[in-house]
Amino acid sequence: MQVRIGVLTGGGDCPGLNAVIRAVVRKGIRHYGDELYGFHDGWKGVVENSYELLDISRMQYTLNLGGTVLGTSRYNPFKYDPEARAVFESVERNSLDAVIAIGGEGTLSCTMELHRRGLNAIGVPKTIDNDIGITERTFGFDTAVTIATDAIDRLRTTAESHNRVMVVEVMGRHVGHIATWAGIAGGATLTLIPEEPFDIAEVCSTITRRHGKGRYASIVVVAEGAKPAEGTLEIKPDEYDEYGHIRLGGIGHKVAVEIEARTGFETRLTVLGHVQRGGSPTAYDRVLSTWFGVAAIDAVHDEAWGQMVALQSNRVVRVPLADAVRELKYVNPQLWDVAKQFFA
Ligand code: F6P
Repeated sequence: MQVRIGVLTGGGDCPGLNAVIRAVVRKGIRHYGDELYGFHDGWKGVVENSYELLDISRMQYTLNLGGTVLGTSRYNPFKYDPEARAVFESVERNSLDAVIAIGGEGTLSCTMELHRRGLNAIGVPKTIDNDIGITERTFGFDTAVTIATDAIDRLRTTAESHNRVMVVEVMGRHVGHIATWAGIAGGATLTLIPEEPFDIAEVCSTITRRHGKGRYASIVVVAEGAKPAEGTLEIKPDEYDEYGHIRLGGIGHKVAVEIEARTGFETRLTVLGHVQRGGSPTAYDRVLSTWFGVAAIDAVHDEAWGQMVALQSNRVVRVPLADAVRELKYVNPQLWDVAKQFFA
C-alpha cells in the first residue's frame, strides 16, 4: 500500500547518511509507490515544517556523497514542549503515515519518546563512534577508522624522520572503538580509550623505555573521551553545548604536553576532529547504509512502529528503539587485549 513518509537525519553528520536516504527513496518509490518528505535539519525541520519532496532524481549521485543532503541538527522538540506537540501537528498537517529518523543516541531517544506518544516511527542507527548498543556496527565507523589509519600512516613517516612522539586525538566521546581499531591498524605505540582510564606516568615510562632502546618514534592514539585514572592528572572539567551534548577535545593536548615535559622527547599533537566524519563513505559503509535504508522502508510497510534496524550476526533485524538506546556498546575486551599486545 502506498504511504506518505517523512525522512530526517539528526545528530552529527556521518558518511553513509545519503546512501540510507537514497535506498529509502528508491525502494519506497519504485517498489511501494510511496511519497517521501525529506525534512531539513532533523526534528527542527518537522517542527518548522521545512521539507522537500524526495524523488529518485534528487538522490542520484549521492551514494558516495558524504554529509546529508537534508541537513542535520541536534534539535530536540521536547526541550521546548514536554509533549512535542509541534511534531504531531506537522505530521497531521502533511498527512504523514510514518517518520523514518536516522540518527545517533540523541535522535533515537527522541524518536522513541515520540513513538511512545503515538508517532509511527522507525529508527536507523548512525554514528561514526559505533557505540549504539544493539547493533554490531553503525555506518560511518569504517570510514572514520580508514581516515584515522591513513593519518597514522602519514604521521609515522614524519615521526620517524624526527624521532618524535606523535599524539593523535581521534573521535569517541564515551567509547574507544575508533581509537582501538585505528590504533591496531596503524600500529600505535599506545592507545588511550575512555573505557580504560590511563596513568600518565605509565604512558611516559613506556615511551621512555621504547626510545631508550635506540632511534624510535612513537604514535600515541588518544580517544577524545579518554580520561586519566583518578588522582593521576588534573584535567579541565567537561563542557556542554546548548543541547546538553558533551563537548570534548583537549585531552590530546594535555597528554602531548605531559609527555614532552616528563620524557623530554619532542612531541607533536594532531587532532583529527571532523576530518573523520567528512568525505566519501567507504564501500563497507555504502553497503551497510543501503542495507539499513531498504530494511527501514520495509519496516514502515510492515508497520513495525517503534523499531530500529540493526546489524546482528550478519543480518539486518528489527529491535525495539527502547533497547537500542538503553546502553552503549563498549570496546570488545578481546579486541582490546589484542591491541595491548602491540603496545611498546
Ligand atoms: O557522535 C559523533 C561525534 O562525531 C563524536 O565522535 C564527537 O564527539 C561529536 O560527534 C562531535 O560533535 P560536533 O559535530 O557537535 O562537534
